Amino acid sequence: MMKNNEMPSHHGVEESPDAKYPNQTLKLLFERASCRNFSDQKIAPDVLQLVLEAGIHAPTGGNLQPYSIIKIEKDETKQKLSELCGRQNYIAEAPINLLFCIDWHRIGRWAQLEIAPFTATSSFRHFWISFQDTIISAQNICTAADSLGLGSVYIGTVLECFRELRDMFQLPNGVFPVVLLCLGCPKTKPQPRKKLDVNVIVHDEKYHEIEDQNLRDSFNEKYPDLKVQITEERLQKISEVCRKVHGEEFARKCIERIKKSGYINPVQRYFGLHYCADEMLEVNDEYLKLMEEFGFNWFKKYHPFEDKTT
Ligand SMILES: Cc1cc2nc3c(=O)[nH]c(=O)nc-3n(C[C@H](O)[C@H](O)[C@H](O)COP(=O)(O)O)c2cc1C
Repeated sequence: MMKNNEMPSHHGVEESPDAKYPNQTLKLLFERASCRNFSDQKIAPDVLQLVLEAGIHAPTGGNLQPYSIIKIEKDETKQKLSELCGRQNYIAEAPINLLFCIDWHRIGRWAQLEIAPFTATSSFRHFWISFQDTIISAQNICTAADSLGLGSVYIGTVLECFRELRDMFQLPNGVFPVVLLCLGCPKTKPQPRKKLDVNVIVHDEKYHEIEDQNLRDSFNEKYPDLKVQITEERLQKISEVCRKVHGEEFARKCIERIKKSGYINPVQRYFGLHYCADEMLEVNDEYLKLMEEFGFNWFKKYHPFEDKTT
C-alpha cells in the first residue's frame, strides 16, 4: 500500500497476461518484464556462456561489432556499482552484472595493425550505429536470459558515473559505457507492465498525429494510478523547473492546472519531479566534455593526426 506522500513509480501498473500466444518466442516477448528481485542462486557458467553467445549473434552495422561487455561477478565491485548507480540494491544482489560499452578501441587497433585508415571515434555516423549495435546485443542477451528462466533489468544511471566506471574497469580511449544489465534468477516472476497501444505507436505509411483526447486517453490508460499527491515541496519544485525552462507565465499555468485537478499528473511528475526538465539541459555541456575525455570527438572539427617524428 502506498503511503500518502510517497511518489508512485513511473514503471506503470502491472498487466495480467491472459492471452494465448501462437509460439513460445511470442509468449516470452509478451510476458517479459524487468526483474528487480533476485534470489541467491548463481548462474551456471554454461548457461551464462550460452546467453552471452546469443548476445554477440545480434545484428550489428556492417557486422563490425563495435562493442564490449564487462562481466562483473565480484561482490565488492557489484556493491560499489550499486552505490555509484544511485543505490539500486538489485545491482549488488544480482549474481552477474554486465556493462555494455561502445568499443571502437579494438577496431582502431585492428586498423592500426593492418595499416587501414580509421576515423570512427570522430564520426557521428559510426557513433550512432555503434550505440545501436551495443544496445541490440544487450537486448538479445535479455531475451536469451528470459528464455532460460533468468531475469534482468537495465540500469541507465551509469551515466551518473562514467568516469568512475572508466577507472574501475580500466576502459581505454574509444570505449564508452552505455548501459548496465543486472542478471540473475528471479525470486518471483515479474509481471509485464502496461504499454501504450500498438495503434498509438505504429503509423500506417506516414506519421499521423493523434487527436488530443485520444492522446490523453492513451497515456491515462497506461498510467491509471499515477496521480501524485500535491505537497508544498512538490509544487515549489515543479514551479521552479517550469520557470527555468519556460518562464513565469508557464509556471503559473502549470501550478493552476495542478491545483484545479487536485493532483500532479504523470507527465508533470516525469519532467517536473523526476527527470527534471531544467537539470536535463544543464548537463549537456558536461556530457560533451566527457565524450571527448573518452576519446570521442565527432562534434568537433576533425584534425588528422600528424606524426611529427616521420
Ligand atoms: C535504457 C534503460 C535504462 C533503464 N534504467 C533503469 C534503472 O536505472 N533502474 C531500474 O530499476 N530500471 C531501469 N530500466 C528499466 C525500466 O524502468 C523498465 O524497462 C520500464 O519501467 C518498463 O518496465 P518493463 O521492462 O518491466 O516492461 C531501464 C530500462 C532501459 C531500457
